[in-house]
Amino acid sequence: MTRQSVAAVARPTQQAGRSSTGAQAQLLRTGMDVLHDTDPELAALLDAEVSQQNSILAMIASASIADPSVLAVGGAALSNVTAEGYPGARYHPGAQQFDHVENLAVERAKRLFGARYANVQAHSCSSANLAVLSALMRPGDTLLGLDLDAGGHLTHGSRASVTGRHYNAVSYGLDESGRIDFARLEDLVLEHRPRVLIAGASAYPRTIDFARFRALADTVGAYLLADISHIAGLVATGRHPSPVDVAHITTTSTYKQLAGPRGGLILSGREYDTPGPDGRTPLFRLMQRAVFPQSQGTPSPASIAAKARAFAVAAEPAFQETARLIVLNARALAAELSSLGYRVLTGGTDNHMVLIDTTGLGLTGVTAERALEECGILANRNRIPGDTKPPLVTSGLRLGTNILAQRGMGPEQMRECAHLLHTVLAGTGLLSDTEYRIDPALVTTVREEVRWLCARHPLSIDTTTAGAPVSLIGVGT
Ligand SMILES: Cc1ncc(COP(=O)(O)O)c(C=O)c1O
Repeated sequence: MTRQSVAAVARPTQQAGRSSTGAQAQLLRTGMDVLHDTDPELAALLDAEVSQQNSILAMIASASIADPSVLAVGGAALSNVTAEGYPGARYHPGAQQFDHVENLAVERAKRLFGARYANVQAHSCSSANLAVLSALMRPGDTLLGLDLDAGGHLTHGSRASVTGRHYNAVSYGLDESGRIDFARLEDLVLEHRPRVLIAGASAYPRTIDFARFRALADTVGAYLLADISHIAGLVATGRHPSPVDVAHITTTSTYKQLAGPRGGLILSGREYDTPGPDGRTPLFRLMQRAVFPQSQGTPSPASIAAKARAFAVAAEPAFQETARLIVLNARALAAELSSLGYRVLTGGTDNHMVLIDTTGLGLTGVTAERALEECGILANRNRIPGDTKPPLVTSGLRLGTNILAQRGMGPEQMRECAHLLHTVLAGTGLLSDTEYRIDPALVTTVREEVRWLCARHPLSIDTTTAGAPVSLIGVGT
């Protein structure tokens, strides 16, 4: 690998006429130089990843592109600090900067979501959920969450997760239209009297009525946990009703729609000092303990710094525009796919997600996923209600518009994307549940069109395209 590519990576700041001379910036540059000189194999893989992200159409609903500044902060020397505990109450010395950084991250998270309490130490949303549940429930207590097959998450009570084994997990599902079946949910709440009710999903394209969930939780004195992992960006920008003051606790990943580093976040609003199950310890105190020392050891200081940076980016007007495009684009994509004859689950979408049934074209979810990937389009297989195929095969696809919106694409480009999807899927033949056949000439044509579309709508991490945005998300064109 040559120094040329190092120079290319450093270009955004130079493009803006700012060559940062701070100690951290120099360290990052030195680090990249050393990596390229001493470990070209790894450096080449990392460079290839940047090129790939820039030149493919990523429609993974759980993904976003982190701003270059977020990525840089994640590689900060702050990572070398080992300090268990919380700001001002660490179990190791030397955490002065880290204390300030963590306080900054907490304050920014609270401001972004209008929360009264935030814990930024959770290493992921899964760990956040496990910590919250362990603070509110004893083993054997009843947990009520959306069924995995209906779009719920593993940590909402699936047997494949400890949440389905340590707790008495009961699940609710969807009605015939593919929406949350509140009538059945009410029956389940009254019958099982859960200790915790979870509202949130990994594959659900419609608005979640958190207030309705809360009313049901209140009928039996359950705690409501809102998991906004997928929709946190829409919640932060007011494009989806916020659960922060409605639920007792809200959790999210920071790398999905928030476009931050890999990590989790725990929030609480009005209920932050409501007593926990012991009738006296306030929820915020329970949450602090639940993360450290009950379920995690040392926090990840550079990740927390990157969260602080991501929360600042998410508070900027450009992020508002991205959120607007995310929803607009998902609607346009769903409408175009419907007009091309696809069965779009629930008939459309309210958020960033479009779920389609691939069986109309005689494909399984996994063959559709693989054929699209071969053509430079990423979307992942997804089980659909009543699916007869196993989770590794499935009968559907989950599409997301986060990254398309970050490219600055709008409804017009969604029509192009829908036609590219259709060209690939209609040109794919099924050989078995997991194998397919596609004309190599078609692959070449679509790959070229995808590359051209991406070049016209560059990402913030694209340092090769003339006029590429420097650091703001969502200003691609
Ligand atoms: C609703 C929901 N909750 C939690 C998670 C877990 O998030 P993480 O990857 O941060 O552990 C996911 C991830 O896909 C999710 O969709």
